[in-house]
Amino acid sequence: MNVEKTAAIVGVGLIGSAWSVAFARAGWRVQMYDERAAACEAYGAWADATWDAMVAHKLVTAADARAARQRVTLCSTLPDALDGACYVQESAAETVEVKTSLFSQLDGLIGKDTIIGSSSSGIPGSAFTEECKHRGRMLICHPVNPPHLIPLVELVPTPWTDPEVVEKARGIMTAIGQTPILVRKEIGGFVLNRLQGALLNEAWALYEDGVASLDDIDATVRDGLGLRWEFMGPFETIDLNAPGGISDYASRFRRMYSEMNNGRKKGPWPDDVIKRADEDRAALLSRSQLKPRSEWRDGYLMDLVAFRKGMKRD
Ligand SMILES: NC(=O)c1ccc[n+]([C@@H]2O[C@H](COP(=O)([O-])OP(=O)(O)OC[C@H]3O[C@@H](n4cnc5c(N)ncnc54)[C@H](O)[C@@H]3O)[C@@H](O)[C@H]2O)c1
Repeated sequence: MNVEKTAAIVGVGLIGSAWSVAFARAGWRVQMYDERAAACEAYGAWADATWDAMVAHKLVTAADARAARQRVTLCSTLPDALDGACYVQESAAETVEVKTSLFSQLDGLIGKDTIIGSSSSGIPGSAFTEECKHRGRMLICHPVNPPHLIPLVELVPTPWTDPEVVEKARGIMTAIGQTPILVRKEIGGFVLNRLQGALLNEAWALYEDGVASLDDIDATVRDGLGLRWEFMGPFETIDLNAPGGISDYASRFRRMYSEMNNGRKKGPWPDDVIKRADEDRAALLSRSQLKPRSEWRDGYLMDLVAFRKGMKRD
């Protein structure tokens, strides 16, 4: 067995399943485990449909897809899944209790150099690895759903993660085609969800205050900001939005942005506003169409990924 390229995935849900495609596509053997037999039973049909769709969207050849699919094994015990794995991607439920108990089990089972990355969306690793003997080899490797189509991974070390382990995790993620970024300090929501949260909080506030309709707020991102954001971030965007670059942009607009910040709303989105947004969305998309529309989104995403593969980026 090639230990160098064997990953264990613990939790065969939405994210664990997608991770299996990312690893297997890159030539890794994948050993999967879930405590629920039903999750493993559902995996086969999901994987077949996913690989078929990737072939149809020209993201992989049929022969490569078949070979990759065969590199994935479903295991009936956690030790079987960990056997010979140099890397574990924990993808179980997002609660401190589940992750604490699972990491304590993994701590007693992993090989001497094995690294464990957690898919945690927002719980920092220090909340569930502190008591582990091998805590220096544990960190967050937070993907974006679905990781086989969206490459970004946030590496979030705990205060006790060995810096060498962070570099190894970065190497593994890069080798399988992901784009790792480093979150230098533990912070709720990490970077991605904090950025998404800033936009979402503002979108809810604008909607609540009746500044624009829900559909027009979506259009502002879809047909406005989002076009540039598909291939550049906020800093590169503003660097190119003033003749003298980022400092020129800041001198022209920082007062405007600072004044906007002063009026910012805090606190959770109100129930009555959520109810109204739900009705507005239902008028645009019947609730029975949520699943087909999600499939439409995934198809669009695959076309976009295929387009980006052929795009000259620098
Ligand atoms: N859904 C997303 O958009 C998203 C995006 C990025 C990261 N994440 C994170 O990924 C992780 C998994 O999320 P998901 O959306 O795949 O959830 P999910 O509910 O679809 O899957 C979780 C799976 O873990 C299994 N599980 C729970 N406890 C287990 C244990 N002790 N041992 C083995 N298996 C166990 C469950 O049976 C389930 O099948 C979470 O930490 C989540 O926050 C989710």
